[in-house]
Amino acid sequence: MFSSKTYIQRRNILRKKMKSGLLLIPGNVEIPMNYPANTYRFRQDSTFLYYFGNDVPGLFGIIDADNNEDMLFGNDFEVDDIIWMGNQPTIKALGGKSGIRKTGNLNKVQEIIKDAINKGRVIHFLPQYSAENKIMFSKLLGIKAEAVNDYKSVPFIKAVVSQRSVKSNEEIREIEKALDISYEMHTYAMFTARPGIYEREISGTIDGFTYSMGKGNSFPTILSVHGETLHNHHHGNLMKSGNLLVNDSGAESLEHYASDITRTFPVNGKFTQKQKEIYQVVLDSQLAAIDTMKPGVKYRDVHLLAAKVITAGLKNLGLMRGDVKEAVSNGAHALFFPHGLGHMLGLDVHDMEGLGENYVGYNDKIKRSTQFGLAYLRFAKELEPGFVLTVEPGIYFIPQLIDLWKSEKKHTEFINYSKVEKYKDFGGIRIEDDVLIIQNGHRVLGKAIPKLVHDVEEICT
Ligand code: GLY
Ligand code: MN
Repeated sequence: MFSSKTYIQRRNILRKKMKSGLLLIPGNVEIPMNYPANTYRFRQDSTFLYYFGNDVPGLFGIIDADNNEDMLFGNDFEVDDIIWMGNQPTIKALGGKSGIRKTGNLNKVQEIIKDAINKGRVIHFLPQYSAENKIMFSKLLGIKAEAVNDYKSVPFIKAVVSQRSVKSNEEIREIEKALDISYEMHTYAMFTARPGIYEREISGTIDGFTYSMGKGNSFPTILSVHGETLHNHHHGNLMKSGNLLVNDSGAESLEHYASDITRTFPVNGKFTQKQKEIYQVVLDSQLAAIDTMKPGVKYRDVHLLAAKVITAGLKNLGLMRGDVKEAVSNGAHALFFPHGLGHMLGLDVHDMEGLGENYVGYNDKIKRSTQFGLAYLRFAKELEPGFVLTVEPGIYFIPQLIDLWKSEKKHTEFINYSKVEKYKDFGGIRIEDDVLIIQNGHRVLGKAIPKLVHDVEEICT
């Protein structure tokens, strides 16, 4: 945990932003995997971590904005628990770590909420993503579990998003610690990949790094010779000479801050001419995008710039044609680059996505597009100092999508389908880095992981 001062300050800022009301912030509980005592890896809720820090299941935080008071609730371990789990800090001790004096048993939460309802006070809570917490809120507030999120507090979401979006120096240091783990994961994969071994032999080892150096993966590792599937979690392919391997993986620091890096490289250590050409287009688009990042620039414009570089590159290779600007405004490039350029990064790998992506990446000035491709852009609004975003363009040859668009004669003025046919077994390429916005520009976070063609080939062989 950070020092208690960090959490006290964060809660004070939130109280000022909200001005009034009772703010409910539940932590997460352990979730059974196949029987009650055999649980999934416990992951604390990120908003709870942000304001209270305690990485322990079964806690409930309350911030009282009317009475300037913070409270932490949970049940102390009894001797029966201690036999199995060892001595655990008391709720009082956990409260002390986050600068909270008022602590109590979990059943006190119901009393406080009842009292607030009786007094006609406003109760705020964030959207709940877990079934367990939806059921708990259903009981606490007397509403149906499936309707809990209908009562989410939009002012509360906006206050939390505005606060968590700007990363402090101690948060940046944590992201960089997660990136140190990414460096090991990616360079190991590049050193180790070779024809004749299974993807899982690499993914299993790099997942191990996330646990030996940090708090585990920041999301399930995507490591596949089928990079055309954007989130491919299957690791059962035998790698062959001529394959490209996409490694999109990340770790959590000991304080649960995330990294998210993608590299694509040839399994046998040498790009073919065809692979090198497409790789260079993706790299050019990523470098051009990063280059323009600074406060005041809309991330949607950065995304569109990356799309234009991709379109121009593919036109150069004869896969696309026509006017580049027109092709991008019509969304023709999305056959090859169907996803957004990136997302915020912090305590969550898609930071605050659980609070609602549109509250994080869009606002009154910039609304989400409905166009295929652009609609998947998770973050579009203006960049501000302290924001951390991923920059992850890619080019993919997705046979089913190519067949569909071709059969619909979609964007034939911009897409040379007869040439595209020759790339249907190509796979996909994505390159991703994590970028901090600073006062006058940006800083690519973490130790550089090879991405220039020459450097990638060198480390792979
Ligand atoms: N790294 C996976 C994603 O950004 O969705
Ligand atoms: Mn990402």
